[in-house]
Amino acid sequence: MIILGIETSCDETALALIETSDAKEHKPKVSTLHHVVLSQAKIHKEYGGVFPNVAKREHAANLVPVFKVLLEESKIKTAKPVSLSKAMWEQLETILKREPKLFEGLLDFLDTTGKPHIDLIAVTEGPGLEPALWVGVNFAKALSALWEIPVMPINHMEGHIAAAVFEEAEKNIRTLSPLAFPALALLISGGHTELVLVSDWHSYKILGRTRDDAVGEAFDKVARILGLPYPGGPEISKLADKARARGGKLLATLPRPMIKSDDFDFSFSGLKTAVLYMAKEIKVLTDEMKENIAREFEDAAAEVLVSKTRRAAIKFGAKSLIVGGGVIANKHIRQELETLPKEIEGLTLYKSSMDLSTDNALMIALAAYLRLLFKNDKAFDKNFGARGNLSLES
Ligand code: KG4
Ligand code: ZN
Repeated sequence: MIILGIETSCDETALALIETSDAKEHKPKVSTLHHVVLSQAKIHKEYGGVFPNVAKREHAANLVPVFKVLLEESKIKTAKPVSLSKAMWEQLETILKREPKLFEGLLDFLDTTGKPHIDLIAVTEGPGLEPALWVGVNFAKALSALWEIPVMPINHMEGHIAAAVFEEAEKNIRTLSPLAFPALALLISGGHTELVLVSDWHSYKILGRTRDDAVGEAFDKVARILGLPYPGGPEISKLADKARARGGKLLATLPRPMIKSDDFDFSFSGLKTAVLYMAKEIKVLTDEMKENIAREFEDAAAEVLVSKTRRAAIKFGAKSLIVGGGVIANKHIRQELETLPKEIEGLTLYKSSMDLSTDNALMIALAAYLRLLFKNDKAFDKNFGARGNLSLES
């Protein structure tokens, strides 16, 4: 089966095409035909963060050109172009009335390209920035109406889980890891920080979440305080590594918010504010000081994440630990989480590879495949829409 993945929840316009193996096979297997991630980071850099309507505009302008590249690179078979009937034209116009730019691009594209061999479209329905999500959802619906291909709405956070549970066996080939339940998922991104108990495939209970900033958001805000560009996570990480390499450390320590609280919630806004006060007090920050602050901030964030995850894994007898989301691209946090399976007997760690940690559409296609494999296909409801606050529990 060939699945098209579409992801537009934030500032990445991403599309992927995968080919799945027969579900009856012993080990479910996927080949990546091609996947593209077009980041808008350069555009949002000017504003120091992501503006939903700018993200929407960019997705609308870029989806069709990225789709063209995807079809060409994946060498997928396409039928001959046919001229659109008036009824189809009207249907597309209805779906895309709020996306004139996308509609225009799609009409041009249809002059030269016919129906590709795609069996299912998987699209992120939420959570994320609603204006941005709608562009992907409407694109999926338009392609579905045009080519009569079913659409499966996917939860973005489930996508991050899917990215972690497929292992790259060889180049572009991924096999499903033999996950044991109960599993614990730590999801850390720019919009989320959650600990989720996964009692079986697609059965979620949120044990705790951040009460204010997400951990990725804290990385981005601390980067801004230190005068570093957006997105701040990778920038902080580079500085922290430099401090570690030369043994640089702050004399003062930053707080480890809620590390001792006996729930599974997090809070990162106080940690960011502590960095702000520290920066104000020092006034002129040298490069070395910035590196030391970045290191201490990273240490503080990692300690809190690891400590809460450890406690949840022990309390709920987790056999698998799944970690996903953009922040798991952080080398230090990855290494610290890798200590948990060594400490806790019977716990296996599954984490997304570096390239699939930040947002992409391959994870959305993989999540759809998991839904099909475990007979948990979401209703193919043509009326679904973008849901900015979608939770794994809903
Ligand atoms: O999952 P993601 O791509 O988008 C959301 O769903 O939010 O995560 C983006 C977040 C950003 O806050 C970014 O700064 C952070 O992940 N991030 C990192 C690193 N790479 C990306 N944070 C820390 N260290 C990194 N190397
Ligand atoms: Zn994400």
